[in-house]
Amino acid sequence: MLAEAPGAVALIAGDAGAPLGLALFRVVADEAELLTIAADPDSRRRGVAECLLAVGREMLRGMNVATVFLEVGAANAPAISLYEKTGFHQIAMRKDYYAFSDGGRDDALIYKLEIN
Ligand SMILES: CC(C)(COP(=O)(O)OP(=O)(O)OC[C@H]1O[C@@H](n2cnc3c(N)ncnc32)[C@H](O)[C@@H]1OP(=O)(O)O)[C@@H](O)C(=O)NCCC(=O)NCCS
Repeated sequence: MLAEAPGAVALIAGDAGAPLGLALFRVVADEAELLTIAADPDSRRRGVAECLLAVGREMLRGMNVATVFLEVGAANAPAISLYEKTGFHQIAMRKDYYAFSDGGRDDALIYKLEIN
């Protein structure tokens, strides 16, 4: 399922009654930001997120988007592996950007993907 509105692209994998995953992009001019992506916990490691990123990339290309950015916590190994597998590369880090209620901190990593 796809939804496209001025400034946004929303993708849902599966059907509305049983969604398997979702991705949401914000679009401004020729840049997009991946705001969120998630797969249903019972459907992980089956290619759902990779498919969402592939479809999203083609939709954004069709909207003349040249660059996609995202931010991810440095401790989020599954997401980092997903992004690096799908062509994103790290361009910056915000040290101790995330603060948790237990007092813990995590760095925010900024990733970029050139669409061509
Ligand atoms: C990150 C997330 C979206 C991945 O979704 P998924 O549908 O399970 O991912 P896919 O099956 O498409 O996996 C694609 C690639 O991502 C990486 N990956 C996914 N889950 C992984 C895990 N648990 N450990 C390591 N790598 C992982 C692998 O490179 C994988 O390729 P491979 O299976 O050939 O090794 C999912 O774990 C999730 O919803 N996490 C919670 C929400 C979240 O953290 N979102 C990102 C916020 S920045």
